[in-house]
Amino acid sequence: MATAIIFGATGGIGSALARQVAGEGRYRLVLSGRRAALSGLAQSLGAEALSTDLGVELEVHALFELTGPCDLLIYAAGAVDPTPLREMTSGSWQQLMDANLTGAFYALKHARFNPGAQVVLLGVYPEFVQAPRFGAYAASKAGLEALAEVARKELRRDKVGVTLVRLPAVETGLWQPLGKAPKGALDPKDAAAQILDGLKDAPPVLELGR
Ligand SMILES: NC(=O)c1ccc[n+]([C@@H]2O[C@H](COP(=O)([O-])OP(=O)(O)OC[C@H]3O[C@@H](n4cnc5c(N)ncnc54)[C@H](OP(=O)(O)O)[C@@H]3O)[C@@H](O)[C@H]2O)c1
Repeated sequence: MATAIIFGATGGIGSALARQVAGEGRYRLVLSGRRAALSGLAQSLGAEALSTDLGVELEVHALFELTGPCDLLIYAAGAVDPTPLREMTSGSWQQLMDANLTGAFYALKHARFNPGAQVVLLGVYPEFVQAPRFGAYAASKAGLEALAEVARKELRRDKVGVTLVRLPAVETGLWQPLGKAPKGALDPKDAAAQILDGLKDAPPVLELGR
């Protein structure tokens, strides 16, 4: 059976993706996050739970040692910290970078893939996030796009595809530090369905909501 791994599986989009991937019944499913809710979610979906702090390279490496090679790797972890640049501490900057960018680097570095595998990274529309208080978020997501581009070129020889998904606003806990999601935000279930549907042709970039 093929193996799917979802990072950020305790989040709004990650858990919706986990439910839909589990529903397809095609994969041995491995879920990763840090919250205690991870084990209950995995149990309810017949999946394995591997708690991992994405800011710790050794933990990410250990996860892939346990899972073995994968066929679908979805990086749905992320964080937002709406703080102006001149007020942001380096600790907050680092935490945000760990979730949005460095963890993705560790995953790409340590994952082992079966031929034909697909990597999915969740990005943004840059014009929506290059706004006051979103400096760290915008920079991390720009970095993620660049990382995706390079990974696509490097992994091509192993027959591994890399898809960067540009998402509009989706109604999840990510918006909590900002109060609430904007009007018209996508339901995470719809976002997950559109992501999985759009992956069928393994596009380099998948734009939702356009
Ligand atoms: N929601 C939107 O409007 C929107 C729009 C565009 C792009 N995106 C992107 O989509 C992705 C998913 O977002 P979401 O809305 O589902 O966010 P969310 O509900 O806040 O979930 C974030 C996930 O990231 C995990 N995470 C954060 N830091 C981590 C760390 N250091 N180690 C391990 N896991 C960590 C959290 O796990 P724990 O809490 O268990 O640690 C959680 O599972 C993010 O990359 C986000 O930038 C979202």
